[in-house]
Amino acid sequence: MKKIQISPSILSADFSQLGNEIKRLNEAGADMIHVDVMDGHFVPNLTIGPPVIKALKKNSLVPFDVHLMISPVHKYIESYAMAGADIITIHPEATDNLQNSIDKIKEFKKKVGVSLNPETKVDIIKNFLNKVDLVLIMSVNPGFGGQKFMPEVLNKIKELVDIREKEKLSFDIEIDGGINFDNSKLAIKAGANILVSGTTIFKSNDGNIKKNIDLLRTV
Ligand code: DX5
Ligand code: ZN
Repeated sequence: MKKIQISPSILSADFSQLGNEIKRLNEAGADMIHVDVMDGHFVPNLTIGPPVIKALKKNSLVPFDVHLMISPVHKYIESYAMAGADIITIHPEATDNLQNSIDKIKEFKKKVGVSLNPETKVDIIKNFLNKVDLVLIMSVNPGFGGQKFMPEVLNKIKELVDIREKEKLSFDIEIDGGINFDNSKLAIKAGANILVSGTTIFKSNDGNIKKNIDLLRTV
């Protein structure tokens, strides 16, 4: 089994203190930092872009896991790579040529992630699974933190685990949206090895992020 890693989403952090929040997450044992990039078009919300990511990156020793919810994504890949993203995750619906966009991310020697919305089927990325480092399963409709976990997506994780085994592949499986201390266990059991969490990490247990990261990791 792959090691369980926690990728806190800074969407729920204190935006007036983002630099300190990144440091705090590093000290609390985060394995990576999940950065949700939204464009008000692919999803109905707007967040941060490359200059902010570039500035924040200086405060982190752990990788930046950048989740691009922007369309068309292709022409922006370079800016996020240059800003310091270590993993770049894109949605297949946000590009007219997934292969080209995967190649573009690889050109910058970044890890490639592809993300599936709750209603998007594994089939759409089946032919690309041997080319990616990670599959990000959305367990809420992307756009906002604090939404309710959709347990039906766990079947896709199981499907991916089967394909990975059959085809002798090694991509990571990450889950994002509504993760709490209960469903984290279900996600891990289904086969997810990277858990994204915003609300639970920043708001549970009076904001004790170290405790919350440790609890999420517990099977
Ligand atoms: C949703 C984002 C998630 C989200 C996670 O569009 O991709 O990363 O912020 O936040 P919680 O854990 O609050 O659902
Ligand atoms: Zn995300």
